[in-house]
Amino acid sequence: MDPHSIFEAWLAEAREQEPNDPAAMALATADSESRPSVRMVLLKGHDRRGFVFYTNLDSRKGEELATTARAALLFHWKSLRRQVRVEGPVEAVSEPEADAYFATRSRDSQLGAWASDQSRPLEARSIFETRYEQMKSRFEGGEVPRPPFWSGWRVVPERIEFWTSRDHRLHERRLFTPDGEGGWSEGLLYP
Ligand SMILES: Cc1cc2nc3c(=O)[nH]c(=O)nc-3n(C[C@H](O)[C@H](O)[C@H](O)COP(=O)(O)O)c2cc1C
Repeated sequence: MDPHSIFEAWLAEAREQEPNDPAAMALATADSESRPSVRMVLLKGHDRRGFVFYTNLDSRKGEELATTARAALLFHWKSLRRQVRVEGPVEAVSEPEADAYFATRSRDSQLGAWASDQSRPLEARSIFETRYEQMKSRFEGGEVPRPPFWSGWRVVPERIEFWTSRDHRLHERRLFTPDGEGGWSEGLLYP
């Protein structure tokens, strides 16, 4: 089995079992001085090319990804006692792909993307609410286009590790790395 199929199977099980946000993942980035930071985002696309999420390109994570072009992802499904770790370079999703995803979001979320100066200091909550109302009026009666500062990143996996809890902390770790011929090599790691 290849890691993408295993991931799809695990995500499908998580969708059945996890009460909230089964597609939530921690996204780790680093700045130009290797200082790490981590936050949760939602997986919005997965195929053989990689793992896609969407965000504000001018946010802290957006700036760090633009600088280092690398990321790590972590899924932890508590009820299943499983984690998946993904590491690799990132690439921007295409404009049509980002437009297509943005169009599926609720109008409120679309307006929220326009209104939020993500990661910047906000003096008062009311300022954000006013900006939101302004965006409502600005786009009234028409479709809300994708903001130019909002798009998706794809993490292209160089390592995918599947961790399964086992009794007595004798956990199982399966590591997949590209075999250089378009396939994957599989190995185990000590827990
Ligand atoms: C479960 C969950 C899912 C989230 N999904 C996203 C997401 O898909 N995109 C996003 O930009 N922020 C998402 N957030 C908010 C981020 O964790 C974070 O607060 C925000 O993106 C700003 O991060 P930054 O300042 O490091 O760029 C999510 C938060 C949680 C708790």
